[in-house]
Amino acid sequence: MGMIERIEEISESAQEAVASADDLSSLEAVRVQFLGRKAELTGILRGIAELEADQRGKVGGLANEVRQQTEELISSRSAELEAAELELSLVADSIDVTLPGSPAAPVGHLHPVTRTRRMIEDVMVGLGYRVVEGPEVELDYYNFTALNHPPDHPARMLQDTFYIEPSPATTGGDRGPRDVLLRTHTSPMQVRAMEASPPPLFIIVPGKTYRRDSDATHSPMFHQVEGLAVGEGVTLADLKGTLLAMLREIFGPDREIRMRPHFFPFTEPSVEFDVSCFRCGGSGSLDGGDRCGLCKAIGWIELGGAGMVDPNVFSFVSDAGYDPDLVSGFAFGFGIERIAMLRHGIGDLRLMFDNDLRMLEQFS
Ligand code: DAH
Repeated sequence: MGMIERIEEISESAQEAVASADDLSSLEAVRVQFLGRKAELTGILRGIAELEADQRGKVGGLANEVRQQTEELISSRSAELEAAELELSLVADSIDVTLPGSPAAPVGHLHPVTRTRRMIEDVMVGLGYRVVEGPEVELDYYNFTALNHPPDHPARMLQDTFYIEPSPATTGGDRGPRDVLLRTHTSPMQVRAMEASPPPLFIIVPGKTYRRDSDATHSPMFHQVEGLAVGEGVTLADLKGTLLAMLREIFGPDREIRMRPHFFPFTEPSVEFDVSCFRCGGSGSLDGGDRCGLCKAIGWIELGGAGMVDPNVFSFVSDAGYDPDLVSGFAFGFGIERIAMLRHGIGDLRLMFDNDLRMLEQFS
């Protein structure tokens, strides 16, 4: 076979090989095969000088033409393949930003105590009360003394109250080791709020409180809401109406309340208040005749303490305009966890603070 025919054959098979290369790496292999240093055509071109003089022109011309043609074919095929590969990767990598995340990120929700606190706040703000908060690290003066607790009151005992030993640097050295404590109730804010603003005063005080107590219904840290209303002519009937309005919002429009005589140092008279049971409707027994477990068949659920502000408490804030001859007031206080536990049927207070998602996710 003559040189010319061989070069034509090479040209044909190069064309076929280029056309059938279906990705960039096989095209590169084709380039090496036909145009690389060891390729047959490269060898022919290198050997032109040794050919007979009359062959050189023809063979050299054709070989160069085929080489150039093949280069062009390869580069246009390469452009085609590159475009196709880009197209493919664009399709494969495309992101539809309108699709939900995968997996959809779970949205958190508020803790049952927070939800209950906000619900109480909403009801009371609707009745015209202001929400205020006070310090959790409190002075004995506000927690006990100004709330008319005598120096030897049992709540002041170490068994009941967490005391903080203040450093002389923060107190100027003028406070004894039992003058600073973790507040045992939200009531100290009654006095602080009265010091800060003259009557009339309508506030609620939600917040954390602390006692040295721990069992299924007591936790060393828990939450209370305090209420205080002071103005001219405020009566125990106003207290009852306010509690009734609040508890009907929380437990349903058919609820009733009752107040039982009690004692608190800072109210006179003092009461404990109960709400009629929202499970049995107050009858103590369920539809099928079974005894109601929620109220223990009593028909009433105990919620908190309340009463008329003791004139002795007003005497601590007389400078701020609280004269027991001119104004009167009522106060109440109750636990937030207890409300949440009742509403959701939670049996153990400690579950509230274990942060076990299996428990918390039930109340989203
Ligand atoms: N502070 C009381 C407690 O923690 C509850 C309480 C009783 C609050 C009577 C009041 C009140 O405002 O008037 O046990």
